[in-house]
Amino acid sequence: MANMAVTVAGLELANPVMSASGTYGHGLEMRHFAAPASLGAWVSKTVTRKPRPGNPLPRIAETEAGFLNSIGLENRGIDSYLRDVLPDMAREHAVVITNIGGESVDDFAELAARLDGERACHALEVNLSCPNVQGGKLPFSTSPAMAESVIARVRAATKKPVFAKLSPNVSDIGEIARAVEAGGADGITAVNTLLGMRVDWKTRRPALNTIQGGYSGIGIKPIALRCAWSCARAVSIPVIGCGGIACAEDAFEFLVVGCRAVQFGTASFTDPGKIGRLAAEMSQLLDQHGIASVTDLIGTLRAPNVLAKTPGAPS
Ligand code: SIN
Repeated sequence: MANMAVTVAGLELANPVMSASGTYGHGLEMRHFAAPASLGAWVSKTVTRKPRPGNPLPRIAETEAGFLNSIGLENRGIDSYLRDVLPDMAREHAVVITNIGGESVDDFAELAARLDGERACHALEVNLSCPNVQGGKLPFSTSPAMAESVIARVRAATKKPVFAKLSPNVSDIGEIARAVEAGGADGITAVNTLLGMRVDWKTRRPALNTIQGGYSGIGIKPIALRCAWSCARAVSIPVIGCGGIACAEDAFEFLVVGCRAVQFGTASFTDPGKIGRLAAEMSQLLDQHGIASVTDLIGTLRAPNVLAKTPGAPS
């Protein structure tokens, strides 16, 4: 069997498969579909300083190739997460990455400090990119200076690996990637959802209460892949690919463009057990192609370096 182990920012993972934040609750909810320890890492739903009820309904809408969400970071807050979730996750012997979100730089720093002493939390993923709060303005992921300052404050508050989750809703994601690397990020998750919307033309009403929301699923894979590739070219810290991954072949595309791990999310809404089978399916596919280790695929894109020759080309 092909070797599936990868190291990402010092985390030794049994395989490169992670859950995408927000698609599995905090992990415990999905235990009957996949054992948390069978994944490389479980990424929690975003945790905030205070409990949040989320946005008014409707806040999920199906599309032709994926869905829109406007959840609004519903969660019970950091106190409940530390008391009710982490102790149970510790018993699962899983690698846990806690995703944190905030409305201010101080919020992010406080959350990082509260999690720093928690042994069951192995790393932080900083959600700079939720499109469903603050009027969809994405203040932390569209400005390189803001992105860097959030990550620098989180970096100062914790010794754990810090991953910055970036938005695809920018013209040059490489610029944001370099900013979070400068701020001290140990890795990047590329990417969160795309801003999108749907309307019922007969009633003239939007499908989501917030009108616009975050689009995820197989329809965004080419965009997410391009973003992940741009990040991998722009920085030397590891990149975790996320967006539209539904099968082993999809995951391999992200590894080839330079990602060290992948996150699986929206596809679980049609097949909740798939995440628990994905690493084995990847391993079988590697065997079929005579590839000894999943790391042999990472950053192996064979392509002419055309963009480097194009004036004004994106990074
Ligand atoms: C949400 O809770 O609105 C989705 C989370 C995100 O896109 O970051």
